[in-house]
Amino acid sequence: MYFEATNKGINELTLDVLAIPLSDSENSRDLMRGLSEQLNINFEEIIRKIPEFFEKGKIEIVFTREKPYLVMLGGVPDESVISIGKALGRIAKKAKEYKASIIGVIVDHLADGEQLNKIIQTVSEAFSLSSYEFNKYKKEKKAIDFKILVLTQKLSIVEANESLERGSIIAEGVNLARDLVNEPANEANPVKLANFVTNIFSGLNVKVTIYDEKYLQENGFGGIIAVGKGSDVPPRLVVIEYNPVNGQRPVALVGKGVCFDSGGLDLKTREGMERMKIDMAGAAAVIGTIYSIAKLSILVNVVGVIPLVENMPSGKATKPGDVIKMYNGKYVEVVNTDAEGRLILADAISFVERRFRPRYIIDLATLTGACVIALGNKIAGIMGNDKELINDLIKSGEETNELLWELPLHKEYKENLKSEVADLRNISRDRGAGAIIGGLFLSEFLDNSSWAHLDIAGVVYSDKESSLNPRGATGFGVRLLLNFLINKSLGSS
Ligand code: BES
Ligand code: ZN
Ligand code: ZN
Repeated sequence: MYFEATNKGINELTLDVLAIPLSDSENSRDLMRGLSEQLNINFEEIIRKIPEFFEKGKIEIVFTREKPYLVMLGGVPDESVISIGKALGRIAKKAKEYKASIIGVIVDHLADGEQLNKIIQTVSEAFSLSSYEFNKYKKEKKAIDFKILVLTQKLSIVEANESLERGSIIAEGVNLARDLVNEPANEANPVKLANFVTNIFSGLNVKVTIYDEKYLQENGFGGIIAVGKGSDVPPRLVVIEYNPVNGQRPVALVGKGVCFDSGGLDLKTREGMERMKIDMAGAAAVIGTIYSIAKLSILVNVVGVIPLVENMPSGKATKPGDVIKMYNGKYVEVVNTDAEGRLILADAISFVERRFRPRYIIDLATLTGACVIALGNKIAGIMGNDKELINDLIKSGEETNELLWELPLHKEYKENLKSEVADLRNISRDRGAGAIIGGLFLSEFLDNSSWAHLDIAGVVYSDKESSLNPRGATGFGVRLLLNFLINKSLGSS
């Protein structure tokens, strides 16, 4: 896909589609009146329909007799970047149906200055996100390569192009995360995925270190070893360091990387197992985020830690009731081998805390089915020990439409994690509060860092397509983390 800003007028360009997000405003009406003259089409009917029709976020298509052959008007109920992005996403899908390739986009009527820059960034973000397809294993590929021209009289071309570039790099990170989650587990296994991480970051200012099973065994990563040992493919721990700033403590991002979760000896049911290649979506979000941060050269130090395992049953697998020694020295009774995510994350969290002394530790994990039941597939759970960090993350997500809802890490529930034979058990002895129990378990593996845990089990995959998403992996977390990290970077207030 190709994006460019231009200050040429419509009549100087050869467009297939003219795309315009419209709101119920005088600016929108004025724009359409002006276009009536320029294109010699009567838009009076459209203008009258703006309030009732466009409020619903629908698209109206007007056919013309010459180029641009199609005028696509996307309704925006408010002038927020989120609504504008959704409208553009719907337009992109329509344009694809019509096999259009050169699309002109008008957004000048929606805002000025900084806000207009944000909207232009949304143009490239929305087109790249909504046209994403995972078609690697399909002979017939439907992907289309748009050329998008943003028509602006208000901003300098240099500035507008920078915004377009930012939007496409952000979308690249999201689409990278989607690719990794959509990739089947026979391809994205711990060893192959670790090597892939090395390759993807070569050429960027990023250091990747892969620790193999021997290193993990010798250095006491008992959680990662216990989960990984049932599989023929050995576990890996991947550390991704991006340090553009001297002497700044990094933000640590930890991502659950269970490349396939069969449940282990506590084998999942057929329905439960079907989609468990997605159990590394936390790791994918960390990879996608650092990829974009590095490509954008944002001045913030970040360390990504991703434990990669396959949770499989076998003669070598961990058994229910086994006791293991974790990286921080605590003993855990593995009562249920399907509560594996917390075991590998716990090791990764104590490792990153001790090794890097991070400013914040943020972990992302498809941790519990309970969180899916509690919050569904549009809202992820957030827990942690630092109210300010949690609120920052919630706010970042509101701005990118990746919603988070805080669940309380109620201390009394810790009782339910007490074991007769070890320091902790890995599942509760009671029913209920499954997502919170997962968070409480993880909290046992931190010394004193500021920490937040995102349970993304429900939101990383969608059965329904939406304006910015095809069916399948959503890339949830990448834009929200990017937003958060950019706010924490040098030079931002
Ligand atoms: N990977 C699953 C959680 C999951 C469920 C992710 C549905 C995405 C969609 C996790 O490892 C798991 O199996 N959790 C168990 C925990 C239980 C044994 C305490 C669960 O949620 O049932
Ligand atoms: Zn599991
Ligand atoms: Zn899992």
